Amino acid sequence: MWPGMRMIRRQLSSAVRGLVYEKHGEPAQVLRLQKLEVASPADYQVAVKMLAAPINPSDINMIQGTYALLPQLPAVGGNEGVGVVAEVGHHVSSLRPGDWVIPVDAGLGTWRSEGVFSEAALVRVPSDISIEIAATLSVNPCTAYRLLSDFETLRPGDSVIQNASNSGVGQAVIQIAASLGITTINIVRDRPELQNLVQRLHDLGADHVITEEQLRKPEMKDLFRTCPRPRLALNCVGGKSTTEMLRHLDYGGTMVTYGGMAKQPVTVPVSALIFKNIRLRGFWITQWKRDRQHIDREEITKMVRDLCDLIRRGRLVPPPCFHWPLEEFLQALRAAQTPFLSRKQILTMQ
Ligand SMILES: NC(=O)c1ccc[n+]([C@@H]2O[C@H](COP(=O)([O-])OP(=O)(O)OC[C@H]3O[C@@H](n4cnc5c(N)ncnc54)[C@H](OP(=O)(O)O)[C@@H]3O)[C@@H](O)[C@H]2O)c1
Repeated sequence: MWPGMRMIRRQLSSAVRGLVYEKHGEPAQVLRLQKLEVASPADYQVAVKMLAAPINPSDINMIQGTYALLPQLPAVGGNEGVGVVAEVGHHVSSLRPGDWVIPVDAGLGTWRSEGVFSEAALVRVPSDISIEIAATLSVNPCTAYRLLSDFETLRPGDSVIQNASNSGVGQAVIQIAASLGITTINIVRDRPELQNLVQRLHDLGADHVITEEQLRKPEMKDLFRTCPRPRLALNCVGGKSTTEMLRHLDYGGTMVTYGGMAKQPVTVPVSALIFKNIRLRGFWITQWKRDRQHIDREEITKMVRDLCDLIRRGRLVPPPCFHWPLEEFLQALRAAQTPFLSRKQILTMQ
């Protein structure tokens, strides 16, 4: 037993609560705040007191039953978050009480005050970073890191184009790319108070911010007089946005699809394949981590270490966040599904 373990365990509240769904459907209709039973951790398990967990689009899709990964029901909602280790099983070697942890795996059910998870499903993060960035680190910044690392060899001065640039992933792409000297061309939807959003993305390090409408205009070619054509296009939307973005990709470049916010298919002009030899790829961070969770954890820990390094240097900040106590989950869900809000809704547990 680690020193201090009993002390932390005694501080755990007796009423463990979580947002549970017994059937798939609209989250506001099927989620209930319930008391949960939490056993002591077995040999390779860790008891975690959750601090905060965001509401991401994939959490909503999972509850709706439309996601690629569906847990057995009843299930607790939420895939991401940060917690503090309260107690560890006898054979746990990488974590100790007091450590902050984030999930490596999806489907853990993070919208709860406490939980018991396997050691392999968690990774430690430093506790001197903000709760917001820790709670939102394991999905979007990790995805952005992989998108920029795994598909094209990018050098300082190269450019990347992306849509939904104000999304959690998009904001992390802007910041990681800026730290590497890579130019970003960022597409957003038009909206009231567009200039505020444009300014905010520039403040994060975005080089160019354009609307979907501007993307379709002939003037786009002016941009490429000063900026190289992108080697990499990151698609979070689908439909028209994607087809337009593809037109600007460099010869032999790659488009990676990681989201489908418009719920429309990707249509690719034949000419893009024949005459520009572009490559179309897809990416899912959950699969990437699952492929490494047990056999090659060093790749995961290196990625988290690199991201935490950026955070400590002030080069990676979380998206603007709004905090909701777990009890106010209905308002939080409503806000999370409101377009043009550009804020992460975070459930706080303590
Ligand atoms: N494949 C992976 O490994 C992976 C990892 C992380 C995230 N994702 C996916 O990436 C997407 C974004 O996730 P996130 O957490 O970054 O989201 P987020 O912060 O909640 O942002 C959602 C983004 O989608 C845009 N959007 C919403 N509805 C849209 C529509 N109908 N047409 C065009 N844009 C629309 C929003 O723009 P407005 O501000 O204009 O509303 C915003 O930019 C989700 O689909 C998520 O599942 C995939």
